[in-house]
Amino acid sequence: MRAKTKLIHAGIVGDEATGAVSTPIYQVSTYKQQAVGQFKGYEYSRTGNPTRHALEILISDLEGGVAGFAFASGMAATSSIMMLFSKGDHVILTDDVYGGTYRVMTKVLNRFGIEATFVDTSDVSVVESAILENTKAIFLETPTNPLLKITDLEAISKLAKEKGLLTIVDNTFMTPYFQQPIALGADIVVHSATKYIGGHSDVVAGLVVVNSEQLAKDLHFIQNSVGAVLGPQDSWLLIRGIKTLGLRMEEHHMNAMRIAEFLNNHEAVGRVFYPGLADHPGHELMKKQTTGFGGMISFDVGSEVKADELLAKLRYFTLAESLGAVESLISVPARMTHASIPRERRLELGITDGLVRISVGIEDVEDLLEDLIQALS
Ligand SMILES: Cc1ncc(COP(=O)(O)O)c(C=O)c1O
Repeated sequence: MRAKTKLIHAGIVGDEATGAVSTPIYQVSTYKQQAVGQFKGYEYSRTGNPTRHALEILISDLEGGVAGFAFASGMAATSSIMMLFSKGDHVILTDDVYGGTYRVMTKVLNRFGIEATFVDTSDVSVVESAILENTKAIFLETPTNPLLKITDLEAISKLAKEKGLLTIVDNTFMTPYFQQPIALGADIVVHSATKYIGGHSDVVAGLVVVNSEQLAKDLHFIQNSVGAVLGPQDSWLLIRGIKTLGLRMEEHHMNAMRIAEFLNNHEAVGRVFYPGLADHPGHELMKKQTTGFGGMISFDVGSEVKADELLAKLRYFTLAESLGAVESLISVPARMTHASIPRERRLELGITDGLVRISVGIEDVEDLLEDLIQALS
C-alpha cells in the first residue's frame, strides 16, 4: 500500500457492527461485564477505549511499529516514555530539543533521579562520547526546533543498539508521511499530534509507537497506571486529520520550499534555516532519510525590535504558539516556545532574540509571499 492510500485504509476502518465508514466516537467510561472479569475487550476507558484503540492501531501501522498509544498531549506522551526509566538512569537528548521536553527533564524528572545530558546529536561522535555507564536511551528530535538541525537516525540507532540503549525519536515535524524512524532502527517514536497529525489547531494530543512486544507491554502498563490518556472525541479528530495528512504535508512542503528560497535571497533577512535549501548542512542527510523537507522555517531578522515590526505587519501569519496546522503561524522562539530555556543557554544554541519561526500553512503560496514582501519592506 502506498503512503496516501495507507492514510485512508490502514488501522481499523469504520465500524463492523453498523457498517459506518467512519470510526464511531465511543463516548463511554465503563463497559458492562457478563460476569466478573468477562467482557468484550474493554473494561474501563483509561485502560482501553474503542475509538482511542482505532487511532492507536492506525498510528502504529503508519509508523511501522508493533503497538501505538494515544496520550492527552505530546508532553504526556514524552513524560510517559521517560517513566520507562528508573532513578539513576541517564538519557542523552538533542540539545535544541523542544523547550517543554527540556523543562520536564531538567525541572521534573530530575527530581525523580532521571539524569539528562543535552548534546548536538547531529554529530554521532559527540553522542558516543556522552554515553555513560548508566545511560539507557538516546532521545532525538530531527529536524530540531527551531534550528532545523538534522540527526542521522540510522547511524545513531546503530550506535544505540551496539551499546544496548533505546533510540527514541520525536517525529512531530516530519510525521510518518515523510519520515519513519522505526524503519531506520529506532525503538520508540513520539509525536505531538497537536501539530501536523491533527493539523487543524483544534486538538491537543500525543502519540507513541513502539517496535517490540515488551515495550508495548511496559508502555501500556504506564499509560494505564499514570492515566494521561486521550479522550474519544479527540481520538476521532486525529483519525479524521490523518486522512488528509498526505495532501497537507505535500502542500506544506511545497509552500515552505518557495518561501525559504525567497527569504534566502532577501536583504533584510540574515540566516535562513530550512533543510530543503541546498546550503543547509543537513540537506543531503535529509534527502536520504525523509521523503520531504516539511513546513517549518526559521530565519533571523537581527533583533527583537525587528521581529516585533515584522509580526505587526504580517496579515496571513498568525502570531501563536504551536505549528503544523493548515493556517500559517509565526512565533518568536526566544520569547515563546523556548522561553523556558535560560537566555544564556538559548544564545549558546543559536536561538537569538531576532530568530523568527514560521509554520507554513496550506494557503495559496502567492498570498503568503506577497504578505512577506510587504512586511519585510
Ligand atoms: C517537537 C515537539 N515535541 C513535543 C511537543 C509537545 O507537545 P504538546 O504541546 O502536544 O504537549 C511539541 C509542542 O510544541 C513539539 O513542537
